[in-house]
Amino acid sequence: MKVAITGKGGVGKTTLAAALALQLAERGWQVTAVDADPDANLGAALGFPPELVRDIVPLGAMRELVAERTGAQPGSMGGYFKLNPLVEDLPEKLGVVHRGVRLLVMGGLKKGGTGCICPENAVLRALTSHLVLRAHEAVILDMEAGIEHMTRGTGRGVDAFVVVVEPGGRSVGTAETIRDLAADLGIEKVWAVGSKVRGEEDREFLTQAMPWAEFLGMVPYDPAAMEADRERRALVDLPGPAQAAYAEILERLLSLQGKG
Ligand SMILES: Nc1ncnc2c1ncn2[C@@H]1O[C@H](COP(=O)(O)OP(=O)(O)OP(=O)(O)O)[C@@H](O)[C@H]1O
Ligand SMILES: [Mg+2]
Repeated sequence: MKVAITGKGGVGKTTLAAALALQLAERGWQVTAVDADPDANLGAALGFPPELVRDIVPLGAMRELVAERTGAQPGSMGGYFKLNPLVEDLPEKLGVVHRGVRLLVMGGLKKGGTGCICPENAVLRALTSHLVLRAHEAVILDMEAGIEHMTRGTGRGVDAFVVVVEPGGRSVGTAETIRDLAADLGIEKVWAVGSKVRGEEDREFLTQAMPWAEFLGMVPYDPAAMEADRERRALVDLPGPAQAAYAEILERLLSLQGKG
């Protein structure tokens, strides 16, 4: 199972990615959590000890490794390099593991023009498409906010997108764009998760605003989120309304993937 968590900025993508990764690991899955956001903070949302993540060098910044694997000089444009570099050993080599979750930090992808294919991106893309998949292995990708990264194809190679939405028009608008881009990338499954939902009115707003979407569930607004952030703990570990919702969302995801 390879799922990318997408959506507008600040809606709760990273918190959800961490909750899914930790719950899957608890059920005995081999989980790789990929932080694909240049502003990396999935390690903190997973509650990984700071000393474990402090020294991680993002893959995109490993100039020598990128050069070795692609045969190109990092940052070079227009030269020849391998589009399908060998990456199979990288998760084992570069990931850090805690509570059964392997965390991989991608780091910033080169922006350049739309769809820029520079050597760094070739390695990162190859890695997301390669990662997995034996039975009971899961990859959860925590994506950068918005849609710009998708036009560079970083979400390619996943089986499903989960798009996180708040009860508001702007995040719904982003979700529609993501749905359309997913179709362009050949990804058929796009599921939604409501986030910071304060009650029935919010639920109704979301289901009405997104009649096209299949909701895995809705995460209630939970004051424990701030505490989790302050104490560097995973929200799913704190008792509160979000915790139960995350469990239901995982059930739904597994059953839709035929893995329940
Ligand atoms: N269910 C919730 N209830 C209340 N606050 C929440 C909830 N989920 C997440 N938050 C809070 O919302 C903020 C953004 O969450 P998070 O970092 O998961 O979002 P994001 O979509 O990954 O953001 P970014 O686009 O910056 O990567 C955080 O302060 C987090 O604690
Ligand atoms: Mg995030």
